[in-house]
Amino acid sequence: MAESARQPQEPQNPEELYRYLLDRVTNMETRNLELREQLRQIESDKRYIETQKIRYEREVRKLKSEIEQLRSPPLVIGTITDVVEGNRVIVRSSAGPRFMVRSSMCIDPEKLKPGVRCTLNQQSLAVIDILPESYDAQVYGMEVVETPQESYGDIGGLDPQITEIREAVELPLKRPELFEKVGIEPPKGVLLFGPPGTGKTLLARAVAHETNAYFLRVVGSELVQKYIGEGARLVRELFDLAKKKSPTIIFIDEIDAVGASRTEATTSGDREVQRTLMQLLAGMDGFERRGDVKIIGATNRIDILDRALLRPGRFDRIIEIPLPDVEGRLAILNVHTRGMNLEGDIVLEEIAHLTEGKNGSDLKAICMEAGMFAIRAEHEKVTRKDFLCAIEKIGLDFDGHKYMSNYGAMFA
Ligand SMILES: Nc1ncnc2c1ncn2[C@@H]1O[C@H](COP(=O)(O)OP(=O)(O)OP(=O)(O)O)[C@@H](O)[C@H]1O
Ligand SMILES: [Mg+2]
Repeated sequence: MAESARQPQEPQNPEELYRYLLDRVTNMETRNLELREQLRQIESDKRYIETQKIRYEREVRKLKSEIEQLRSPPLVIGTITDVVEGNRVIVRSSAGPRFMVRSSMCIDPEKLKPGVRCTLNQQSLAVIDILPESYDAQVYGMEVVETPQESYGDIGGLDPQITEIREAVELPLKRPELFEKVGIEPPKGVLLFGPPGTGKTLLARAVAHETNAYFLRVVGSELVQKYIGEGARLVRELFDLAKKKSPTIIFIDEIDAVGASRTEATTSGDREVQRTLMQLLAGMDGFERRGDVKIIGATNRIDILDRALLRPGRFDRIIEIPLPDVEGRLAILNVHTRGMNLEGDIVLEEIAHLTEGKNGSDLKAICMEAGMFAIRAEHEKVTRKDFLCAIEKIGLDFDGHKYMSNYGAMFA
């Protein structure tokens, strides 16, 4: 009874049979379609897995070769001292003795030159590869990576000096053809000198801001090293790097630290400074053409600089950055009060007249102090009185006499 209930009844009359068969055929066709779809799906899965497999196999191969490389013995570092013929060279390994070895076929024979660093196989000492030149990390540290914010517009009252420095430094780098046409060699370097706080470093920072050249900045005292010959080596590497990366501008701030006049030296420290200076002179001369390397020096003691440093050919242009006059002071005040909230009663000309003998950094300090007075009095705007108080605080008496003595006392 139960069996007959589960099995559908065989249709008896032909019409029913026909419908029954049609039904089954459509059912089977849809089933067939489903199965085909499944098959397609499975095939695409298979393809995906196969590509995955190939990828993983490649990765395994890569990792295996990396493991091989990590397991391989270290290479010895050496220096090529001579090239005998073809691929036979004489090397000096870092351990000391010299060897005659063969070099790998893969190395371009052009690159096999005396003085080049290379790697050597540990057993045969064959030259495997040529290494790039290395510079002291300190030299790399001199590179100005972040461009300074100051532009020429932030310098007040030094327009002729800006023109001179642009002519001497930027023009030869940007438009060398002008110099070729006229038939002169462009200036190699400029020296900025003047009293402290007049904007020498600021000017160099503006040059770094405005130029696209590679900019190296070094303070003279950084070139003075502890061990004999180290300072000279630093200078040599500095010039090498500058030449390689040209166009380059080297800025040597406070150059008096190494450039002081050579006398009958007494201590070994003095002699070391002098050796560094001599390397600097040789570097600036550029026994070989220096390429597009310009040098800017800055000092406030030009009187003690060695005469050899000052002669044309080294620093071709010597630019004085003097204490600002009334107009200069007004221009500097304009620069530093640009962002300040000033009361209408302030006449900057008056402040410029009252600050006779002040330098740029004093004027900046006066602006800042005036702002501080305004903050103390809880004003939002800086008034004339704030400025007068600030001038007094920075050390200027209104009749102008006491100022000099204060100045001496302040910086004694
Ligand atoms: N002409 C100027 N225009 C605008 N600001 C100036 C000017 N001169 C100096 N200053 C201000 O004074 C600060 C100090 O100047 P800077 O460092 O250039 O002095 P310097 O001439 O290099 O002095 P030093 O010889 O002592 O190194 C600058 O940061 C700047 O804010
Ligand atoms: Mg300076």
